[in-house]
Amino acid sequence: MRLIFLGAPGAGKGTQARALAAQQGIPQIATGDMLREAVAKGSRLGTEAKAYMDRGALVPDEVVVGLVAERLGRSDTKPGFILDGFPRTVVQAEALERLLKEREIEVDRVVFFDVSEGELLRRLTGRRVCRGCGATYHVVFSPPERAGKCDRCGGELYQRDDDSEATVRRRLVVYTEQTSPLLDYYQSRGLLARVAGEGSPEEIGRAVVRAVRGR
Ligand code: AP5
Ligand code: MG
Ligand code: ZN
Repeated sequence: MRLIFLGAPGAGKGTQARALAAQQGIPQIATGDMLREAVAKGSRLGTEAKAYMDRGALVPDEVVVGLVAERLGRSDTKPGFILDGFPRTVVQAEALERLLKEREIEVDRVVFFDVSEGELLRRLTGRRVCRGCGATYHVVFSPPERAGKCDRCGGELYQRDDDSEATVRRRLVVYTEQTSPLLDYYQSRGLLARVAGEGSPEEIGRAVVRAVRGR
């Protein structure tokens, strides 16, 4: 099972990818998470990436493609993978196609999460993430049992630096300009499956499974 999860910031890619990857025993490859790890470590790559991320801009294609190429080379991707937040530009999609071709594999399905802009804003500005295990919460839609603490590991919950309203608006513009052309790109290759991204996470999870099987 080799999948791409596509959608605007806040569409629920991470929430759904995490659940499906755990259920299927395949890795979730989230470039945003990988970049945030690099930032937390203070590596050179992290320092370079942070300047783009804080502005809500995309990190340069060659940087992200390099990260993904290295990650796909690891053996845990053999049974499959879910790419979450990559590719995000046509240049990245073309690079991915080349990477997979070298390995003589193909993407099975591209799942697009369709969510309205008002809902995206509500989700992102209320999101909280666990510093310990990366679990995602929402102050209204999926609050933790104890405010500020992760239900699963007790870790501290924080708000991502790029989840302020101004940066979220910028990310949405960047999505429309640079990422939404991928809908046509994958539609024309017969790979795109559209999932209504509003509803309970469980309902959406079932729609994803149907979309993935319906091939
Ligand atoms: P990245 O981390 O990928 O962020 P994003 O694409 O902007 O998407 P998000 O993670 O914000 O949203 P999501 O769809 O995962 O939603 P989630 O499930 O968390 O990228 C961050 C930055 O890194 C970029 O801006 C860029 O700078 C850089 N970057 C990353 N990849 C790159 C690439 N390929 N190329 C270049 N640069 C790159 O859900 C959101 C919230 O909604 C949560 O609070 C959640 O609890 C809640 N929620 C989820 N589902 C539901 C539901 N069904 N109902 C109600 N609430 C829900
Ligand atoms: Mg995410
Ligand atoms: Zn946690």
